Amino acid sequence: MRTSFPKDRIEIVLLESVHPDGAGELERIGFTVRPHKGALEGDALADEIRRAHVVGVRSKTRLGAEVLAGCERLLAVGCFCAGTDQVDLDAAALAGVPVFNAPFSNTRSVAELTIAEVIALHRRMTERSDALHAGRWEKSAAGSHEVRGRTLGIIGYGHIGAQVSVLAEAMGMRVLYHDIATKLALGNARQIGSLDELMSSSDTVTVHVPDSGVTRGLIGAAQIARMKPGSYLINNARGGVVDMQALADALRSGRLAGAALDVFPDEPARAGDAFTCPLQGMPNVILTPHIGGSTVEAQRAIALDVAGKIARFIDTGSTIGAVNVPEVDLPEQPADAPDRPHRILNFHRNVPGVLGQIHKAAADLGVNVAGQYLRTMGEIGYVVIDIDPSDTDAFNERLRAIPETIRTRVLW
Ligand code: NAI
Repeated sequence: MRTSFPKDRIEIVLLESVHPDGAGELERIGFTVRPHKGALEGDALADEIRRAHVVGVRSKTRLGAEVLAGCERLLAVGCFCAGTDQVDLDAAALAGVPVFNAPFSNTRSVAELTIAEVIALHRRMTERSDALHAGRWEKSAAGSHEVRGRTLGIIGYGHIGAQVSVLAEAMGMRVLYHDIATKLALGNARQIGSLDELMSSSDTVTVHVPDSGVTRGLIGAAQIARMKPGSYLINNARGGVVDMQALADALRSGRLAGAALDVFPDEPARAGDAFTCPLQGMPNVILTPHIGGSTVEAQRAIALDVAGKIARFIDTGSTIGAVNVPEVDLPEQPADAPDRPHRILNFHRNVPGVLGQIHKAAADLGVNVAGQYLRTMGEIGYVVIDIDPSDTDAFNERLRAIPETIRTRVLW
């Protein structure tokens, strides 16, 4: 479908060094893209994005309500990362601006780091490496194990947990998992109903649950006390899930033989900032600065995923993958057919009677509706109406005049 607006006049500003393949994909489709290396803030940000139709950010650029209000032409925001905390989602929704992200494009990267850590902990690899860097030849088999035949306990069998499961089995590990939902076991993995049983049955426990009120502090002193003597704990999920002090105590006492942490309750905001935590300096403890999902491959997958969602929204009105407005999937329109319906996209405040007003406008004007798709979410409703081409302008005017209308756009 063509937009009512020439594609090359749609300006997309991409900040924070989004992977170039994202810009490449958007340019290939025909949009005008302005990539920037760093994050922007204050007047520099406002000036750069004031006339943009789409703004793409990663985790550092904050798009608050005030900044969004200054962008009159804004159609969509792309968060080229998993999180969307940096954008005022409600303000964007109330302006009829969908926000897209890429929640699962770095899944494999986190799973691979986890597997690397399972082996590294079993072989005390960082300790041996550190000794050699310090000039000591500590050749020894003490405390080193193969992972084959040992048991991996996965807490949270979602996208990442399931990938870890497949990779671990390929190395000959036994896999147990615990999840609040019943999950289809992959391969020979086995779901365990109780967290306590998983903790006491595993040689390595790895955590892959989301951050929530329930999961915060999920692994505390009591849970760690149930772990096998000499076992390992890995947290590549969110810092608040594991009680760091309890973990430090268990490592110091020798009950646990090692741990790997990629996430921390208090993470510095910028690369190069200082960092402290209770596990620093402990042997066989791997600390990484929240880089589980940080690979070139993940960055590229994120860029292509978000670019695709943005392009689909601009071209067809589909909001699939949006986090702050109702998700509406739309059938493909026949390409270049002369009698192809015109498509009206209408974001409105979700109060009773709006659809009635829209239908009345169609009836008053004798508009032939070829298709209609409506979803609501919280305060926002999104309706997409395909109509006969001849009636578009008058119908569009009537929809714009409905007091609850937030924004109307036409595609033809
Ligand atoms: P997901 O949503 O696909 O899976 C999470 C699973 O945890 C679900 O199956 C859910 O039912 C389960 N779960 C929720 N509460 C639970 C509880 N109390 N006990 C047991 N299971 C529970 O999420 P995904 O994509 O697998 O991500 C998992 C975690 O990894 C998230 O915390 C995410 O923030 C983190 N992550 C970390 C990255 C890093 O760079 N280290 C990068 C990407 C994600």
